[in-house]
Amino acid sequence: MDIRFVERKDLKEKPDWNKLGFGKYFTDYMFAMDWDRENEWHDARIIPYGPIEFEPACVVLHYAQETFEGLKAYRREDGKIQLFRPEMNAKRMQNSNERLCMPKVPVDIFVDAIKALVEKEKDWVPTLPNTSLYIRPVVFATEEALGVHMATNYTFLIILSPVGMYYAEGLNPVKIMIEDELVRAVQGGTGFTKCGGNYAGSIAGQVKAEKEGYDQVLWLDGATKTFVEEVGSMNIMFKIDGEIYTAPIEGTVLPGVTRDSMLHILRDWGYKVNETHLKATDLMRFGHEGRLEEVFGTGTAAVISPVGRLKFKDDVITINDMKTGELTQKLYDTLTGIQWGRLPDKYGWTVEVC
Ligand code: COI
Repeated sequence: MDIRFVERKDLKEKPDWNKLGFGKYFTDYMFAMDWDRENEWHDARIIPYGPIEFEPACVVLHYAQETFEGLKAYRREDGKIQLFRPEMNAKRMQNSNERLCMPKVPVDIFVDAIKALVEKEKDWVPTLPNTSLYIRPVVFATEEALGVHMATNYTFLIILSPVGMYYAEGLNPVKIMIEDELVRAVQGGTGFTKCGGNYAGSIAGQVKAEKEGYDQVLWLDGATKTFVEEVGSMNIMFKIDGEIYTAPIEGTVLPGVTRDSMLHILRDWGYKVNETHLKATDLMRFGHEGRLEEVFGTGTAAVISPVGRLKFKDDVITINDMKTGELTQKLYDTLTGIQWGRLPDKYGWTVEVC
């Protein structure tokens, strides 16, 4: 793919790598490419990061025809930079775009664009432990029209943000409230896609959880509000009586790259993994009976995030005394070890950029 380059006059000052937080700083350049029916994907370019212009009648502003992805570039101890399973993000975005009637970005264009942009911005890949360069690809409809239909024009952008931990708690356990009124997804809907609309609809649940002093919301299945599915910003797994439980990928839950990687590793370590529907009431009962040994979220942004408290209606349970569990810690060390190149990558998941 030919990528044209537009240089910016002044480069930004890099932030303090110790104070990155999540998604607060953006690099000097971004990648852009456009789609229309005649030319399909064309005009790949790396241009200065900055405001983009579109018409007030732009379809995405009205009907939210938009999908996005999230992955990271990691700096290894030898200074080299690598990605983690970028083809999985490319394929997931293709599935999201298909559901939202948007043109698919070919896998090679998606991965090559990321590699080119990350290489250009290599000085923005932070060097401190637990820091990385978060990569946010997004596709959105740019046609100027108010009729609800498949738009005729789209833009694919990739922006980059040096990040630390997603949660202020770091690797300390977070508190999660199970939402029993609002729902996130139903069969036949868009739950399995990474579209902005899913997240817009979830914010009310997040606000409710925060008002009660919880960090995140855990969604139940939309049809019966009985079975646990996923958390606002991550998938979730439970260790019960020594076995692993997580919601199945059947159309409502996001097929997480970290989720898939953890299940792979857990099976490799000999754990029995149950991708099955688990009732919130059973989960709370297992907690009270001392059978719920560990709970952890998995996600690109959140990595492996221990959960120390769960609330469902008036019932509250504390997991592992609000301490990070042994298995959670081992998964965290293994995953981050592979991602940052401290451990051998026996699964072939990493892709060197430069
Ligand atoms: C990610 O984990 O990369 C995500 O896109 C989740 C987002 C809510 C931060």
